[in-house]
Amino acid sequence: MPIRLVLLCNFVGYAYSSTFQWPNPLLNYADHQLYEGPLNLFRGCPARDNTTVPAQWLRLAYHDAATHNVDDGTGGADASIMYELDRPQNIGEGMIASLSDFNSLSSLTPMVTPYSGMADVIALGAIFAVVSCGGPVIPFSAGRVDATEAGPPLVPEPQQPLASHIESFRRQGFSETEMIALVACGHTLGGVRQADFPLIVTNTSIDVDTFDTTPAFDTTIVSQYLQNTTQDILVVGPNVTTRSDFRIFSSDGNATMQSLLSPDTFTETCGNLIQRMINNVPNGVNLTDPISEPFDYLVGDPLFAYQNGTFIMTTSLRVLSPSTTSTITMLWTDRQGSFCPSTGCSILPSSTEQVDFSIIGQILGATAERYFFNATINATSSISKFWFEINDNDGSDPVVVDNGGSGFVIEQDSLFVDSIRTQLIQVPEVGVDTKVVVAVRGNVASTNVSVIAFEPQSSAAVPPFLPSTTSINLQLDESNPPEGGFTFFTTTVSGSVMYLSEITSIADGVTYTQENFYLFDIFPTF
Ligand code: HEM
Ligand SMILES: *[C@@H]1O[C@H](CO)[C@@H](O)[C@H](O)[C@H]1NC(C)=O
Ligand SMILES: *[C@@H]1O[C@H](CO)[C@@H](O)[C@H](O)[C@H]1NC(C)=O
Ligand SMILES: *[C@@H]1O[C@H](CO)[C@@H](O)[C@H](O)[C@H]1NC(C)=O
Ligand SMILES: *[C@@H]1O[C@H](CO)[C@@H](O)[C@H](O)[C@H]1NC(C)=O
Ligand SMILES: *[C@@H]1O[C@H](CO)[C@@H](O)[C@H](O)[C@H]1NC(C)=O
Ligand SMILES: *[C@@H]1O[C@H](CO)[C@@H](O)[C@H](O)[C@H]1NC(C)=O
Ligand SMILES: *[C@@H]1O[C@H](CO)[C@@H](O)[C@H](O)[C@H]1NC(C)=O
Ligand SMILES: *[C@@H]1O[C@H](CO)[C@@H](O)[C@H](O)[C@H]1NC(C)=O
Ligand SMILES: *[C@@H]1O[C@H](CO)[C@@H](O)[C@H](O)[C@H]1NC(C)=O
Ligand SMILES: *[C@@H]1O[C@H](CO)[C@@H](O)[C@H](O)[C@H]1NC(C)=O
Repeated sequence: MPIRLVLLCNFVGYAYSSTFQWPNPLLNYADHQLYEGPLNLFRGCPARDNTTVPAQWLRLAYHDAATHNVDDGTGGADASIMYELDRPQNIGEGMIASLSDFNSLSSLTPMVTPYSGMADVIALGAIFAVVSCGGPVIPFSAGRVDATEAGPPLVPEPQQPLASHIESFRRQGFSETEMIALVACGHTLGGVRQADFPLIVTNTSIDVDTFDTTPAFDTTIVSQYLQNTTQDILVVGPNVTTRSDFRIFSSDGNATMQSLLSPDTFTETCGNLIQRMINNVPNGVNLTDPISEPFDYLVGDPLFAYQNGTFIMTTSLRVLSPSTTSTITMLWTDRQGSFCPSTGCSILPSSTEQVDFSIIGQILGATAERYFFNATINATSSISKFWFEINDNDGSDPVVVDNGGSGFVIEQDSLFVDSIRTQLIQVPEVGVDTKVVVAVRGNVASTNVSVIAFEPQSSAAVPPFLPSTTSINLQLDESNPPEGGFTFFTTTVSGSVMYLSEITSIADGVTYTQENFYLFDIFPTF
């Protein structure tokens, strides 16, 4: 028996090597955006404005990060670019177009959330840009903090001398060799727009003068330069002053460019440098460990509804590389700690769905299944935590997915958004509103219940695109009278409110709080 326990512990430890301690909204966000998120809509290096969407996204990310100063630890990837678009160095219609992409994508699933801002989205945009055009999969670290004002004007410009570019890249944290490579990695995409740089592109019948002859993230920029057949206007342009790529590429006698001719070297070097570029954050900002593959297990945030003496609790579990023979069981304990309440303590999935991975997930060869659970739980004895057991039915020990041993803990059951009473309301000629219903334990009409409504999408025409938050006091819900010891409170919010970033109830000196409730978890088919 002791031996078996030891083995089990080891096994559980192994099963946890690629998941995280729940709840962790930031890691959950990172996994979602990389493997199941809306940036995937731009796969296949799509053309736009005579360049490509990925070219516009990558330049935006560079210009956001280029304000980093290693000497004093200020600036960097912080979305300050949203306040810097009036600078000559940031001219170009790709800038606003890219930020608009990231702002309006929120109408599908939010890119900006209460706990992760535009700076993370810009970094994710760079990662998707590179992979979309055939480049490497760059690991993502989340946790950038959005600036609230412009940073120093430090983005390099083509007319500046080599020495100033070397100094500029040193300040951003890159050596001369790394500068050469990073510029080649960037200028494998897109080109120079005549209207914005008329002194560089002097031929007015050209709209965008592309740096090389392929839209792909590949070595063509390098090989055409070395073969002296390049069309890169920053190498061969009529105005010698603005031949910055020539000065940079040739600054070490072409040694670095020679080394980048190898596609493997190009891919690896560019992947590493662009990763460092987007991770150049101001001192004091903590990024998560890099995420390079989907987590093995991903639990869906549980939803609750009160119904006739029971809680209807729904959740899900994404399982990477599932066995076709597995049985997945969700188990729970009541709030007294009984393993098996009299109403039962385990259920099988009510449905499953094959996960449709993004281009990044597909390149990594990931496959996964998502299992949905719908538990009916005695509302008096309630639930204190849940976990899962995966039995491959092949004689091997079941894998226990229990959040590193603690289980997925339900901190309290006295305040929750009621996922059945909360409903979408069609409003003719306006769209959709959401009637939010919050359940509070106790017949406490004097309770104060408030929410902070978070709308990720800005209605501004031009950057900065900032989310908005509104604090709302809820009213007693006339259409949902108190029942089973719960009182229901309500408010109606616009359908563009996607999060309740804070839900609070105060009664008799006791405060309950729930954070970062994603409303659209309730409406999966909306
Ligand atoms: C000395 C350094 C650099 C200079 C002077 C420079 C200059 C320029 C200029 C003038 C353009 C044309 C922009 C437009 O017309 O919209 C451009 C485009 C671009 N740059 Fe750079 N760049 C530098 C470094 C970088 C780096 C390090 C990256 C990324 C790693 C990068 C990525 C891009 C991309 C992707 C485009 C194409 C944008 C599009 O097609 O919309 N650049 N660059
Ligand atoms: C692309 O460039 C051509 C001229 O080279 C121009 O006529 C056309 O309007 C441009 N398209 C876009 C979407 O800017
Ligand atoms: C200007 O660009 C057009 C279109 O690429 C080309 O046909 C023409 O030869 C160019 N003119 C000059 C003077 O280079
Ligand atoms: C590169 O090409 C340009 C013009 O296309 C020419 O003037 C120059 O001599 C060439 N350089 C070499 C090293 O072949
Ligand atoms: C060359 O570019 C520089 C910097 O943009 C500019 O000051 C100069 O006037 C340009 N020269 C010509 C002949 O266009
Ligand atoms: C580097 O390559 C460019 C383009 O082929 C060429 O013009 C230049 O002379 C080369 N420089 C050296 C030092 O070889
Ligand atoms: C980053 O982590 C350090 C050490 O844990 C902490 O003191 C600091 O407040 C964190 N910074 C942010 C922005 O959260
Ligand atoms: C409520 O549950 C009881 C048993 O607990 C059942 O008899 C009754 O029919 C249920 N009422 C509704 C409206 O579902
Ligand atoms: C879960 O089950 C309850 C009662 O059986 C049902 O009312 C509810 O619609 C189900 N929820 C989901 C998300 O399937
Ligand atoms: C619910 O739990 C309470 C407390 O444990 C118990 O008294 C009651 O009988 C349970 N209800 C049902 C329907 O099992
Ligand atoms: C509830 O809110 C009202 C008005 O905002 C306030 O006067 C009252 O003191 C609050 N009650 C509690 C219990 O916080």
